[in-house]
Amino acid sequence: MGKKWWHDKVAYQIYPKSFLDTNGDGIGDLRGIISKLDYLKKLGIDIIWLSPIYKSPFVDQGYDIADYYAIAEEFGTMEEFDELLAEAKKRDMHIIMDLVINHCSDKHEWFQKALADPDGAFADYFYFRKGKNGNPPSNYRSYFGGSCWEKVPGTDKYYFHMFAKEQPDLNWENPKLRQELYKMINWWLEKGLSGFRIDAIINIKKDLNFPDFAPDGKDGLASCWKMVESVDGVGELLEDLKKSTFDAFTVGEVFNMKPDELPEFIGETGHFSTIFDFSAHTLTDGKHGWYDAPKLEFAKWRAAIIQAQLETQKYGFKANIIENHDEPRGASRFLPSYAQTPDGIKMLGTISLLLRGIPFIYQGQEIGMRNAKWNSMEEFDDISTKDQYHTAREVGLSDQEALEVCSRMSRDNARTPMQWTSGENGGFTKGTPWLKVNPLFKDVNVEAQEQHPDSVLNYYRKLVALRKSDELKEVFTYGEFLPEYENVDGVMAFYRKDESKCILVAANFGKDAATIKLKSEIEKVWLSNRIDGTVDCEKDSLNLRSCEVVVLELENHK
Ligand code: GLC
Ligand code: CA
Repeated sequence: MGKKWWHDKVAYQIYPKSFLDTNGDGIGDLRGIISKLDYLKKLGIDIIWLSPIYKSPFVDQGYDIADYYAIAEEFGTMEEFDELLAEAKKRDMHIIMDLVINHCSDKHEWFQKALADPDGAFADYFYFRKGKNGNPPSNYRSYFGGSCWEKVPGTDKYYFHMFAKEQPDLNWENPKLRQELYKMINWWLEKGLSGFRIDAIINIKKDLNFPDFAPDGKDGLASCWKMVESVDGVGELLEDLKKSTFDAFTVGEVFNMKPDELPEFIGETGHFSTIFDFSAHTLTDGKHGWYDAPKLEFAKWRAAIIQAQLETQKYGFKANIIENHDEPRGASRFLPSYAQTPDGIKMLGTISLLLRGIPFIYQGQEIGMRNAKWNSMEEFDDISTKDQYHTAREVGLSDQEALEVCSRMSRDNARTPMQWTSGENGGFTKGTPWLKVNPLFKDVNVEAQEQHPDSVLNYYRKLVALRKSDELKEVFTYGEFLPEYENVDGVMAFYRKDESKCILVAANFGKDAATIKLKSEIEKVWLSNRIDGTVDCEKDSLNLRSCEVVVLELENHK
C-alpha cells in the first residue's frame, strides 16, 4: 500500500458555532479558533476539520449554504479565514473544510433564479418535477420529516429535498452544475486547504424515475434512503468529483453503501482518501426513529468495531470517531453508567485512538464532555430533534417520554458550547450562548483539567503522543489489527502488530474485574489509565479492574 501524508495524522473536528466566542455575540468565531490553535497543537492535532463556516441562513446550522464563496458574518471575515490558514500552516497543521454539495440553501442565488424561472436553466440545477395525480412525484420522507417534495410556488411543479425544505438537492446529472461545484472546490484548494470532509455524498445519485417505495411509517411515506440504496451509478459521479479535487485529503460521510463497495470507495484508487466508520453508531438506529432506538449492547458494539477493522484493513483506512456533531456524546452513549467516569472515558478514548485508521477527535471529547440535561423541548435548537420529538409523539409517547428520547439522542448534545473554564458560560462567551451550556461545565472544563496531571485532557495528550511517537508510530499506523479475547465478557482487546512490534491494547468495559492470559511476556507498559501507570500481572495472568485499559508491548508471537 502506497504511503500517504495523512496516514499517520490525528484529526480534530471543530463545530465553529460552539467552539469559542470572542466578540460576545454568543456564537463561536474564527478568532476563537485561531486563539486555540496552540491548545490543539499541544493535544497533538495535525488536521482540523471545520464544520461549515460558509454564508448560511443556519436552518440546518450551516449545512444549508447560501454562498459557497463567502464566510458567514457570524464567524468572521475571509481575511480572518486566511489568517487561520496561515497560522495553522505555521504550526504544521492542516485545515479541511466541510463540503456540502448534495444540496444548498434555498437562499442560494441558483435556487432563487430557479424559482424565478421554473422552466429556465437554473431549474435544471435542481430537481423540478410535476406531481402525480395531484400528489408529489414520489412518496419519500425526508431525513428531517415530511415529504421530500415541496411545491414550487405558482406552478404545478415540486422541487426535491432529502433534508429540510430549505435545502434543495442539487442536480448532479447536470454537467454545468458539476462544473460550478468543481470550480468552487478548486478555488478553496488554491487558498491552501488540505482537503474536505464531504457531506451526505452518497445522496448525490438519484433514481430519476423517483419510484415509490412501500410506506414504512405512520405518515404513509417511505424513507428516502431506500431510493439511495436502490440506485446504481454513484461511483461515476464520485470519480468525476475526485478528478477535480486532485490530491486533496477527502473524508466522506457515507451511509447506505452497498456491501461490496468498500474497495471502490477507499481502496488505493478509491473515490475518497477515507470514509468515517459509523458501524458502532448505526447499532442504535431505530427502525422508525429515535423513539425505537435499541439499547447499545457491549458485545454487539465490540463485534461491530472488530468486523469493520478486519474488513477495512484489506483495502485502506477508515476515519474512527466516538462522536461528531450529529451524534450524542460517546461517553454517554457507549459507556454504561458505572463507566461514565474519567477512567471509563480514558478507556473508550484509548480504544478509539489506537484502532487502525485515522482518529478524529470531536471538540470536547478530549475533556470527556457528556450529554447535557434537557429540561424542555424549548432548549433544543436542532431541526432533526424537533422532528424526532414530533415522530415520537405521533406514535403515542407522552411529552415527557418524547423529551427523554430527544435528551438521549439529540445532536444538540454534541453542539453545546465547548467548556473552557469553570467561569460564566464555561468560558465560551461573555454574552448569551446561542445554545445552552452543559451544566456539567463546572466539573468538566479545560482549565481545571490543565491543572490535574491525571485529567482526561492530559491523558488524551499522552495517548495522542504515544500514537505518534517515534517508537510506535509505524505499528499504530500500518500495523495489522488483530482482535483477541473476544470470548471474555466485557473485554475489548486487540493487537496492533508488524514484524518488529506486537502491541496489545486491552480494556475491561465490565462492571467486575476480568483476567486474561497473555500469550507472551510483557516487554513494556506503554500506557495505562491507573494513576500510577502500573499493571496488575502475575506470570501470564493480567488482571483488569473495571474500566481499566492498558497498552502493552509484548514479545512478538504468532
Ligand atoms: C450531514 C451533516 C448533518 C446535516 C446533513 C445535511 O449528515 O453531518 O449535520 O444535517 O448532512 O447536510
Ligand atoms: Ca462571536
